[in-house]
Amino acid sequence: MRVIIVALASLALWVSSTTAADTMTRVCNNCTNESTEPFVEAPPPWNLEAEVAYVIPMLGLSNDLPVKAYSPLERNSTYATSGSCLAGIGLMMIIRYKDSPVGPYDEFIIIPGLYSNPGDTGLRKFRISRIYVSHKYTTWNGRRNWNIPKHIARFDWSSHADGTESVKIYPHDTTSLLNEEAGPSELPFFQGTFTLPPIVGLVRVPLSTAITTYLDGIGLDVLKLSSPPLPQGNGKYGELVGTSRNANTQFGVSGAWASVGSLDVYQGPQGDQIGSTGKNAVGDEYYPNFWPNMPRHNLALRLHGSTVSFGAPDVY
Ligand SMILES: *[C@@H]1O[C@H](CO)[C@@H](O)[C@H](O)[C@H]1NC(C)=O
Ligand SMILES: *[C@@H]1O[C@H](CO)[C@@H](O)[C@H](O)[C@H]1NC(C)=O
Ligand SMILES: *[C@@H]1O[C@H](CO)[C@@H](O)[C@H](O)[C@H]1NC(C)=O
Repeated sequence: MRVIIVALASLALWVSSTTAADTMTRVCNNCTNESTEPFVEAPPPWNLEAEVAYVIPMLGLSNDLPVKAYSPLERNSTYATSGSCLAGIGLMMIIRYKDSPVGPYDEFIIIPGLYSNPGDTGLRKFRISRIYVSHKYTTWNGRRNWNIPKHIARFDWSSHADGTESVKIYPHDTTSLLNEEAGPSELPFFQGTFTLPPIVGLVRVPLSTAITTYLDGIGLDVLKLSSPPLPQGNGKYGELVGTSRNANTQFGVSGAWASVGSLDVYQGPQGDQIGSTGKNAVGDEYYPNFWPNMPRHNLALRLHGSTVSFGAPDVY
């Protein structure tokens, strides 16, 4: 019962209070990896226009997090080891931002569950365990502003004649390149194909304050991220900044209409396994459906014209 309520809330949280997209000041004109413009702070809050956002509940999956839940840099740091994770109540998100203070970018987010965090006396909160973004300016700012453990990846999107859409993600943080993060992997870390029903029924995702109030009542706070400090890494562009304080961040999605479809997460045969080594493209474990216990076909919401917001964090 509790899991079902959380599942509904996970879907519902995407429409939080309506925040109009603010006019954003860009901190880079040419926001690409190749650009020579210096890193400039783009302070929170960020209210981002998402061209497309896919939200995939990760529910009832394994209680033990796989090694691949974290990037090699964060894996053995307090970012991963502080507090405990109530796994199996999480989300995967794949978003194409049309604009942001650092220009357009793509993002892949894994939230494996709800975490406790020593020092935070509040309720369990989501923690983004692993996240890829498509350029250095969002990596640098995301790590610095909110302790979000961003790493760069190349995103390869393709639309097919049958109406499906695929994405393949080639990260820089392969285990072998841990000290460099110098360029994308040869095989994808993740690939997925989205299918929408032939007649796209638009479903308004409801905001239910009753659900979030109930969740608070049973000890969960799904509208906030709890992020311990991040270690510093050696990215090619100096983008992997570290931080020294904890941050709790309000986040949400507003103005969204959703169509309900599915995401196929089968990773083979051209997927991320290297030969039959059981290792994936970045040196982590290989699972045919990407994650332990994940089914091949997953419910996916496709949100249209939404605003994704990351508030100013409470730091401690
Ligand atoms: C970021 O850099 C990598 C190579 O270093 C490249 O593959 C990727 O496409 C770049 N992304 C952007 C948005 O420039
Ligand atoms: C961004 O900067 C790079 C490196 O100077 C350059 O190759 C590229 O053409 C620029 N892109 C735009 C859109 O100006
Ligand atoms: C992380 O810790 C594990 C076990 O303690 C160890 O096997 C692994 O090599 C460590 N990884 C890194 C990147 O330090």
